[in-house]
Amino acid sequence: MTTLPDGVRHYPEHFDLEAQQALLEDVRHVVRQAPLYVPTMPRTGKPMSVRMTNCGTLGWVTDRQRGYRYQATHPETAAPWPKIPSMLLDLWREVSAYPHPPEACLVNFYSADARMGLHQDRDEEDFSAPVVSVSLGDDCLFRIGGVRRADATTSLRLRSGDVIVLGGQSRLAYHGVDRIYAGTSMLLKTEGRINLTLRRVTIP
Ligand code: SIN
Ligand code: FE2
Repeated sequence: MTTLPDGVRHYPEHFDLEAQQALLEDVRHVVRQAPLYVPTMPRTGKPMSVRMTNCGTLGWVTDRQRGYRYQATHPETAAPWPKIPSMLLDLWREVSAYPHPPEACLVNFYSADARMGLHQDRDEEDFSAPVVSVSLGDDCLFRIGGVRRADATTSLRLRSGDVIVLGGQSRLAYHGVDRIYAGTSMLLKTEGRINLTLRRVTIP
């Protein structure tokens, strides 16, 4: 049993296989309208190893010139982001304990060798809402620490259908993905992992 920092909640297999398949269909629908693209780091322009897209009224984007931010349109097609699927809005209502809907759902696609360095989610205005995240596909090794980069971290394996909530004292906790365990799930047609991250951005 892993003890998680205060404010972190892990719901193993919150979505069963049937629900994961339905959610995956929703994600495919989103990606058809808002294609995955390669985000780049502020200043250096270094490409991230994950591919990204969003749904919601706002999407999280990053590029060399303008850095991390939220915007209402896809950076490559300039189209508004598609709607957040209802299953994810239902999830938010169930687990967020926050009275307003999420505005952004970041979709991250990890190939077998992709990773995400330790970071805070802090580009939002409203930190009273939690970050709610769903894993689909291959397992990953997720790492979560405290609100300072140097704080001790805990690692846990996230599996397809798992939900993790970062709220309260852990809303600004450092977190990242150290590795993908390729071939551990049969859900996707290929190796890899999808992560869906729901966030409230603006103060209502
Ligand atoms: C993220 O922090 O944006 C993604 C976390 C994850 O992939 O589980
Ligand atoms: Fe994050």
